[in-house]
Amino acid sequence: MDLIQATAVHKRFGGITALNGADFVARSGEVHALLGENGAGKSTFIQILAGAIRADAGSILLKGKPFAPASPSQAQAAGVSAVFQELSLVPDLTVAQNIWFRREPLSALRTVRPKALRQDTQALLDRYHFPRLAADLEVRRLTLAERQVVEIAKALARSPAALILDEATSALAPRETEWLLTLSRDLAQAGMLVVFISHRLAEVRRVADRITVFRNGATVAVHDTREVTDDELIAEMLGRRLDRLYPERVATATQKLALKVRGLSAGHRLAGVDLDLAEGEVLGIAGLQGHGQRELFQSLFGVTRARGRVELWGKAVALRGPRQTLGGEFGLALVPEDRRNQGLLLSKSLRENLTLSVIPRFARFGIIDAAREKALVEEMVQFLRIRASSPEQLAGTLSGGNQQKVIFGKMLLTQSRILLLYDPTRGVDVGTKGEIFQLMRDLAAKGYAILFYSSDLLELVHVADRVAVMRNGRIAAILAGDRVTEHHILRAAMFESAAA
Ligand SMILES: Nc1ncnc2c1ncn2[C@@H]1O[C@H](COP(=O)(O)OP(=O)(O)O)[C@@H](O)[C@H]1O
Ligand SMILES: [Mg+2]
Repeated sequence: MDLIQATAVHKRFGGITALNGADFVARSGEVHALLGENGAGKSTFIQILAGAIRADAGSILLKGKPFAPASPSQAQAAGVSAVFQELSLVPDLTVAQNIWFRREPLSALRTVRPKALRQDTQALLDRYHFPRLAADLEVRRLTLAERQVVEIAKALARSPAALILDEATSALAPRETEWLLTLSRDLAQAGMLVVFISHRLAEVRRVADRITVFRNGATVAVHDTREVTDDELIAEMLGRRLDRLYPERVATATQKLALKVRGLSAGHRLAGVDLDLAEGEVLGIAGLQGHGQRELFQSLFGVTRARGRVELWGKAVALRGPRQTLGGEFGLALVPEDRRNQGLLLSKSLRENLTLSVIPRFARFGIIDAAREKALVEEMVQFLRIRASSPEQLAGTLSGGNQQKVIFGKMLLTQSRILLLYDPTRGVDVGTKGEIFQLMRDLAAKGYAILFYSSDLLELVHVADRVAVMRNGRIAAILAGDRVTEHHILRAAMFESAAA
C-alpha cells in the first residue's frame, strides 16, 4: 500500500504560490526522489509532510488515513521524520544531546543520564554505520558536513516509517555522500520510505527507485528511474530543453595582475602556494578533498592566519586578518562555502542582505537615502534575476538558488573586482547554475578577476581559463588550454610526478 498519498496540495506565502496542486505518491520500501528547480516547491512540500507548516488546501493520506500534522513532533509520532535544508541543531549541546533533543526535556539532557545518552547514541551511530563522530563533542565544533550527519542521526533516532532528506548530500563530502546513498538503499530494503531531494542527477540515479518531478509548485511527471533519461528529467524540471549549461569561453584575461600570491602558508594545510590571477581571468582551483583549497580561500580572505606574500593590483597587503579589504575597488570579495550561515542573515530581508555591508555608500550624515538604496536593490534584483515576492522577503525563505544570487549581489555591491568563489553552485539547480556560469564569464569580460573552486571538476573544465591543481597544500600543476581536462586534473591531483 502507498505510505504517503498527497493530492492537489496548495500553499501560498503572501503573494507567492509555492505549491499549486502538487501530487505525490510513495510507498514503503522505496527510495523516492523529488526533483525540481530551485523554487519549485520541494522544501515547502516536505515541510508540510513533516509538520513544520500547514497546507492551504489539498489532501494528504498517511497509511490511508488523513494526515495533517500540526507540528514536527506530531509528524514524528506518526512516523514521518525530515532532515530540513536549514540545519536545526543547538550549537551549545553535544552531538548526543542534539540527537535526543525534544524527546528528552532539556534539563534531563544536561544533567541526568549522560552515560545512557552516550550509549544510546553510540548504539544508533553503530547501527547505521555513521561516519566517526564523537557523541560528547559540542556541535559548535563540527564542520558543516558533520552537522548534516548529526541531523540524519537525529531523524533516524525517531525510528520513522518515512525519512525525508532535503538536499542532505549538498553539504557532504564524497565519502559521506557514498555512506548516505548506501544507507538510503539499506533503509528502503528494510521497509522504510526514503524521500530523497538532490540536484545531483547521478546520485538520484544511483539511489532512487522512482522520481517525481515538480515544476512551479505542481507535479509534472512521475517515473521509474530506469525508464527516463537525464535530458528528459532536465527538460521536465525547466519546462524547456537546456541548450547549453556552460557559456562560451572567450579569453578575456589581460596582462595586468590582479592577485599575486607567493609562498602562502597556513598551519599544516597550506604549504607555500604561488599563484597569479590576471584581470579578466577565471582561474580554477582543483584538488582532492582536503588538500588546502579551503585554507587557500580562507587565508586570502583573511579569516585564517597565514604567512607569505599577497599583492592585490600590484600592492602588497598585510596578512593579518580578518582583512579589511572587503569592499572597495582594490579589495577582495568572497562567496563562502556555508552560505546559509556565513553569507546571509536569514532573518533579514533580501534588501537588507544586499545593502548592509555597503550602507555608507548611500547614507549621508548617518541618514540612509532610501530612494538610492531602493534603486540599487532593484537594479541588482533585475541584473541577477532574483526571484522574490518583494525586496522585503526574508532571505531565509528564498530558495537555494535565489539565496546564492543574493550573495553574488552582495559581493558585487562591494565593488571589489577580485572575486573568490568557493563552490558557488553547491546545492543550486541546473537552470540557476547556467546563469551563474554566464555571470562569471560576463564579469571576467568586464575585467573582474575570479578565483573559482568547485567540487565538480566538469565545472572547472568548462568555465575556467586555467586550472591550478592543489596537492598537499601546494600547487601541483597549472593547466591551461587543451590541458584543462578532467583527466589531467585528476592525474595532477593524485600523483606526485604528474606536474605537467
Ligand atoms: N516562508 C516563506 N515565505 C515566503 N516565500 C516562501 C517561503 N518559503 C518558501 N517560499 C517561496 O516558495 C517557493 C518555493 O520554495 P521552496 O519550497 O523552498 O522550493 P525548493 O525547495 O523546490 O527550492 C519559492 O518561490 C520561495 O521563495
Ligand atoms: Mg529546497
